[in-house]
Amino acid sequence: MKFFIDTANLDQIKEAQDLGVLDGVTTNPSLMAKEGISGTENILQHYRDICDAVDGDVSAEVLSVDFDGMVKEGEALAALNPQIVVKLPMIKDGIKACKYFSSKGIKTNVTLVFSVGQALLAAKAGATYVSPFIGRLDDISTDGLHLVQEIREVYDNYGFETEILAASVRHTMHIVDCAKIGADVMTGPLSAIEGLMRHPLTDSGLATFLEAAKSM
Ligand code: E4P
Repeated sequence: MKFFIDTANLDQIKEAQDLGVLDGVTTNPSLMAKEGISGTENILQHYRDICDAVDGDVSAEVLSVDFDGMVKEGEALAALNPQIVVKLPMIKDGIKACKYFSSKGIKTNVTLVFSVGQALLAAKAGATYVSPFIGRLDDISTDGLHLVQEIREVYDNYGFETEILAASVRHTMHIVDCAKIGADVMTGPLSAIEGLMRHPLTDSGLATFLEAAKSM
């Protein structure tokens, strides 16, 4: 399973990259705004900086909601770096734009996916990634992981190559559960990734070994 970090914060991106397990980055307008990034030139520069900081794919979301606007924005984003994945909302024009970009060999991530039908449509449009938002479904008492499981089943039935990018991952167990289900990618915060390495028996075992080492 690929690990993406879901942030626009360069320090956290570099920290995850230094860990050696990072495969890419996802951003969204809320995450960019949180870092105080605004204005077209600053936004483009920030995406360049993110691409320089990581080896893998970097999802950059369009702000337009009409086909022509998405194409214009997406082409400008894709021209920044081959690592850029054009992130498109799961709406009618987003699907059209997804087909447009996929037929041109430009990578896409269809975002804000909350149903199997939406995921099926994204795959038909040639999406590179589809992003079911598991945390936001959990927030409304709906099983987000079950959606990932259903998408896995449908994609496997037909051999769709679109990768399931489990998004809106909120904690460490989400990552473990996504791995069990067979999500291709997960994107989450650094804290959730770091949670994977923690175990009290590891800590106490290491403390014992270090104590013993003093008498070696
Ligand atoms: C995915 O690409 C989104 O940026 C993200 O995972 C949304 O997560 P949230 O529900 O925690 O905002």
